[in-house]
Amino acid sequence: MRKYLIVFIAGVLLVPAAIYLYFRSGYAPVATSASPLPFERFFAKLAMRATLSREEAKPQVPPPTEADLVSGARLYREDCAVCHGLPNQPQSAIAAGMYPHPPQFFRTGETSSFDPGHPFRPLDPKAFWKVKNGVRLTGMPGFKDSLTEQQILAVSEFVSNARALPPSAVSVLEGKSENPVHAESSSGSRSFQVPNHK
Ligand code: HEC
Repeated sequence: MRKYLIVFIAGVLLVPAAIYLYFRSGYAPVATSASPLPFERFFAKLAMRATLSREEAKPQVPPPTEADLVSGARLYREDCAVCHGLPNQPQSAIAAGMYPHPPQFFRTGETSSFDPGHPFRPLDPKAFWKVKNGVRLTGMPGFKDSLTEQQILAVSEFVSNARALPPSAVSVLEGKSENPVHAESSSGSRSFQVPNHK
C-alpha cells in the first residue's frame, strides 16, 4: 500500500516538474514565427467557445443598412485595416509578423459579390464579442473603451459583409470618396454618429 502511495505522489509531482522543465529548457516556442505550444490551439479554442456560449452577447438588431456599412468602413480603415487588410492590397508588415496571424477579410483579386437586390448579412454575435472584448494573447485588441457600442456594432457588421460591400463602402475603404450623408465626418475622426438601429 505504501509503495503505491509513493508512486502516486511521485507521479503527481513529476507532471508539474516536467512542465516546468519544458518551459525552462529554452525550447518552448516564444517567437511569433515558432510553431504553437503543444495543445495551445486546442485550449485557446476550448476557452473561447465556452466563453462565447456562456456570455451570449447578442445584441438583437436588424440587418445593417448601407449607411451602417459606410460608417463601419470608415472605422475599419482607421482601426482594423493594418491587421485585417484592405481589398487588393498586400498584407501589412505588421500583420505578416504577428502570431497568430490576423485573419485577412479581403482576398487579392476577389471581386465583391454585392447584389443590390439582396439584403446585407446580419451581425455575427461572435465577431461583435471579439471586437468588443478582444482576444487575449493574440494581438486582437478589445475596443469597448475606445469605441461606442454603436460603432462596435457598425464595424462588426462591416466585417460580416466584407465579401459583398456596396460601392459606397468600397470607395470609403479605398479612401476615394466620402458619403455626402456623412460629410461632416470627413476628417476621419470618431466624432461621427453611427446611425441608430431602430
Ligand atoms: C493589432 C492587430 C489587430 C487589429 C488592429 C485588429 N485586429 Fe481583429 N484580430 C487580430 C488577430 C491576431 C485576430 C485572431 C485572434 C485569434 O486567433 O483568435 C483577430 C480576430 C478578429 C476577429 C475574429 C475573426 C474570426 O474569424 O474569428 C474579428 C471579427 C476581428 N478581429 C475584427 C476586428 C475589427 C473589427 C477590428 C477593428 C475595430 C480589429 N479586428 C482590429 C488582430 C487585430
